[in-house]
Amino acid sequence: MRKEELLASLPVGDLGLPLYFRESMSSTNDLAKELAETGAEHGTLVMAEEQTAGRGRFMRSWSTKAGTGLAMSLVLRPDASTSNEISRLTGIGALAVAEAVAGYGGDIKIKWPNDLLLGGRKVGGILNELSWVEGNLDYAVLGIGLNVHRGSVPPESELSFPATCLEQELGWTPSRQQLVLDVLAGVDHWLARLSSPGFLMTWESRLAFRGQRLRAETRDGIVEGTLKGLDPEGRMLLVGEEGQSLAVGDEVLQVRPVDS
Ligand code: BTN
Repeated sequence: MRKEELLASLPVGDLGLPLYFRESMSSTNDLAKELAETGAEHGTLVMAEEQTAGRGRFMRSWSTKAGTGLAMSLVLRPDASTSNEISRLTGIGALAVAEAVAGYGGDIKIKWPNDLLLGGRKVGGILNELSWVEGNLDYAVLGIGLNVHRGSVPPESELSFPATCLEQELGWTPSRQQLVLDVLAGVDHWLARLSSPGFLMTWESRLAFRGQRLRAETRDGIVEGTLKGLDPEGRMLLVGEEGQSLAVGDEVLQVRPVDS
């Protein structure tokens, strides 16, 4: 991808400028956080062709080999004030990628809270990191990783969940530059509708394993139940054996279908 070509199409809505584009960096989320700490504006975009220390949730490593995928982080300063709205930000990233890929014929499902599955395998993920000042949201860094070309998929031995890429699942490779623009359009669209019921419904409609039995590993133990959907806070709603509702927040460590 060429910085100059991408720049010519930016911003998309309120997002994409300024653009920090590097061939290689440790983690786009780390640079985005540094920039946000020194006042970077809403919409600032950090991108890298390669990450040497890409991260997922709970410091799990995320591989981005040069020129094979997308590694991008947005500095967001949304008007979100309620915990409901703030907890929806990961969903916005996930939905934006799912809808962008739908435009190319791929049906991404969201393994709540932040994994993107295509053909049942992980094709991407979201890392949303928040910073607070005196109890108010100062900024969010919304990190998005997507495997595009075959070379982006790490070897099976390095994975805790099977992985794939767009090239493998679609049978062809969409332009990474166009994907970035489509994802930005989706984030911008849903940010303006953060508190709408329509957002929650659309996010819910993309959930993986709906109606199936799931086991969620949390810091307080294991929660098991059938996935019903999301509550207004964006938490996953399971129905337990006795019909009781169980809400699981995004501090959850791992979610797996029971029969796998
Ligand atoms: C996960 O699988 O838990 C989320 C993976 C998120 C990876 C993206 S790539 C761009 C941004 N920079 C990072 O270091 N992580 C996110």
